[in-house]
Amino acid sequence: MDIEEIKKELERELGPKLYLHSLGTMEEAGKLASLYGCDIQKARIAGLLHDCGKASCKDNLKHAKKSAELAGTRYGVKDKSIMDAILYHTTGRVNMTLLEKIIFIADKIEPARHYEGVEEIRKEAYKDLDSAIIKSLESTIEYVKKRNMVLDMESVNTLNYLKEGK
Ligand SMILES: [Fe+2]
Ligand SMILES: [Fe+2]
Repeated sequence: MDIEEIKKELERELGPKLYLHSLGTMEEAGKLASLYGCDIQKARIAGLLHDCGKASCKDNLKHAKKSAELAGTRYGVKDKSIMDAILYHTTGRVNMTLLEKIIFIADKIEPARHYEGVEEIRKEAYKDLDSAIIKSLESTIEYVKKRNMVLDMESVNTLNYLKEGK
């Protein structure tokens, strides 16, 4: 599928809000890819598809896995680096690739995102990708803890890994 066909399908599948978020993530990922010397086309496709399974997934913690699967089976993505960027977009992972970092943070800072602290993370993303991810993970982990929600240990591992590299 080319990007226009994917867009049409996603618009039908996701509903207006999530579709807009997907377009925003695609644009943001493309900009970051150009700044950091990553493959722009791969970043745009991964950004566009990163939540493609979210509308059909009841368990929010599993939507990244579902989206990575659907990217392959329904949207014709064959590139494993794109699938991994989708798969790890909520938690990151130890040794994450540049593309994975870009999709992780593009999802958190795209223009339709509004939450406390987003501006700071947005600015940081264009200066230091790892620092931006650290900030984003710290605020997510704090949010989850405060509300006694389930904390995905993968995000704690990612945070520690990125901090070690600082
Ligand atoms: Fe997501
Ligand atoms: Fe998202």
